[in-house]
Amino acid sequence: MKDAELIGVQKTLSPVLRAKALDNRLRDPILGDKYAEQAMRRLDPEYDTRPFGASQMGLVAVVRAKAHDDWARGFLADHPDAVVLHLGCGLDARVHRIDPPATVDWYDLDYPAIVELRRQFLPAREHYTLIGASVTDPTWLDRIPRDRPVLMIAEGLVPYLTEADVRRLLTSVVDSFPTGQIQFDTVAVWAWRTSKWDPTLRKYNTRFHCGFDDPAALADWHPRLEYVDEAPMNDSPVLMAKAPANIRRMYRLLNLLPGMKRSTRIVRFRF
Ligand SMILES: C[S@@+](CC[C@H](N)C(=O)[O-])C[C@H]1O[C@@H](n2cnc3c(N)ncnc32)[C@H](O)[C@@H]1O
Repeated sequence: MKDAELIGVQKTLSPVLRAKALDNRLRDPILGDKYAEQAMRRLDPEYDTRPFGASQMGLVAVVRAKAHDDWARGFLADHPDAVVLHLGCGLDARVHRIDPPATVDWYDLDYPAIVELRRQFLPAREHYTLIGASVTDPTWLDRIPRDRPVLMIAEGLVPYLTEADVRRLLTSVVDSFPTGQIQFDTVAVWAWRTSKWDPTLRKYNTRFHCGFDDPAALADWHPRLEYVDEAPMNDSPVLMAKAPANIRRMYRLLNLLPGMKRSTRIVRFRF
């Protein structure tokens, strides 16, 4: 299966993977993910001949990946007996970048077509399970051991779910485990509302289905859920330090527009 055979929202993994591949070509990469370029070549056989050009703007997605990785490493250092639920994993090689100890059980979940691609493009490992399902299917959680701390990571997934689905997901994870950390990114309400005109999403025949101006307030959805903090994205110091000069300039300008700096927010909760 190739990129052309993925449908709708599944195709959204491609620009993110491409950004990670581009990052790995920088002299001083933000993420330094060698798997991204390997997987990108398999997904798009013309990858090496396409100019990077405007896709450099996607480097901000690499900043998001690094923020999620840093939080995940911190949680796993404190909870080496954790289970990890990496939801909407796409072709992201987080489990290989983080390389958790054998005491951690890691679950990568995405649609069956993506899981099939992962099997072809990325190496298998011990204590690692692929689940081919929609995250909205209530039965996948039955396959996860529930007596251990949980780390739930959803990178680039939540905007594609409805608010009702996000609520069901968060509350069922909190109800299922004794303790844990939940980290994801969301878009602002304006970004959700205007997503039907976003050229990239239109190309993939998809759009966002939810947005939040105050993601911290989602802690109100469950009495055990507590908001922790937010990581910077469009104005991230690492982006400003490491992205090529033209990209830094572009983000400085974009961030002057109202609502732009917080158009996407990376947030962390605990329970
Ligand atoms: C923007 S991509 C992000 C991929 C990956 N997390 C990354 O950051 O590289 C969104 C991913 O979410 C997956 N996805 C969207 N809706 C989903 C659902 N309901 N169940 C499972 N996966 C879903 C897509 O198939 C796609 O792989």
